[in-house]
Amino acid sequence: MDYRHFAHDQIKHIRQTVGDGKAISALSGGVDSSVATLLAHRAIGDRLESIFIDDGLMRHREAQWVVAAMEGLGIHVHVIDAADRFFEALKGLTDPEEKRKAFRDTFYTVFGEVVRASDAQFLIQGTIAADILETKKGVKTQHNVLDQIGISAKDGYGFTVIEPLKELYKPGVREVGHSLGMPEDLYTRMPFPGPGLATRCLGECTPERIEIARQACRIVEEETADVKKFQAFGVLLADRATGVTDNGERRFGDIIAVRCVNSEKAVKATATELPWEMLMRIQERICEEIPSVTKVLYDLSPKPPSTIEYI
Ligand code: XMP
Repeated sequence: MDYRHFAHDQIKHIRQTVGDGKAISALSGGVDSSVATLLAHRAIGDRLESIFIDDGLMRHREAQWVVAAMEGLGIHVHVIDAADRFFEALKGLTDPEEKRKAFRDTFYTVFGEVVRASDAQFLIQGTIAADILETKKGVKTQHNVLDQIGISAKDGYGFTVIEPLKELYKPGVREVGHSLGMPEDLYTRMPFPGPGLATRCLGECTPERIEIARQACRIVEEETADVKKFQAFGVLLADRATGVTDNGERRFGDIIAVRCVNSEKAVKATATELPWEMLMRIQERICEEIPSVTKVLYDLSPKPPSTIEYI
């Protein structure tokens, strides 16, 4: 595929669809939403309002990173702090699909309020082909595939969705980013799911438990920075495991699973063969920097039968 041509067509399409109207785009820090936002910005300039909803489920220092990266492309990002509302919605939930639904409902409620306040009529979304496929197969409901899960954005939330990347898989999205002159560290970024760290925290997503998942992700990302992989992160499991202190006292602590996978399109994946020393270093750092942790595991499961994330 000629990605430059594809980008050009999508810019034209967005321009025609939005007409004299206004659009809004929500960035997540991931590649898909960044590329979709850049296409829309090229199409309609300042009639695009770019927002970053801080849902409290983002990676370490993510809001600052996204604001700076997009500023470098001439796009001003407005950060909306909605963490309390997401934690309230997730309170007491442990079932994976219930957590996804609570996230999605809160996201679109907060987002709907922002859209109505801005009088935008269009919503730019970075949905890609893999998201649609997973939802169609019933593997899980991706929060950004509204139509397929029977939600009318127009009736329910009052806006029309534009999804310029829905025919592409991740490598194609990166190519579009590259062809638009996006910096490499942005378009080569690891995928990060819409429901954020909620997909990496089994059991209840309290602010304290999400912070543990966030620190585990930070450590795994730092230690695997030079490894060729599709995604790498840490996951807080729901149960606790027995540990022992230096002076022999038993204690129950958290369990972190380390996930690092190779994949091309996220449809299939295999565990990355990380060097033993690297795994040991990750284990040491997690136990040192997150004192509640007593066990660190490396996840070997391929997709299928597993999935990449944990919910
Ligand atoms: P799974 O866990 O299904 O993930 O193997 C496949 C790819 O999709 C990402 N992912 C999501 N992305 N919204 C997204 O935008 C979501 O709800 C979502 N769930 C998973 C995941 O990180 C992986 O790259």
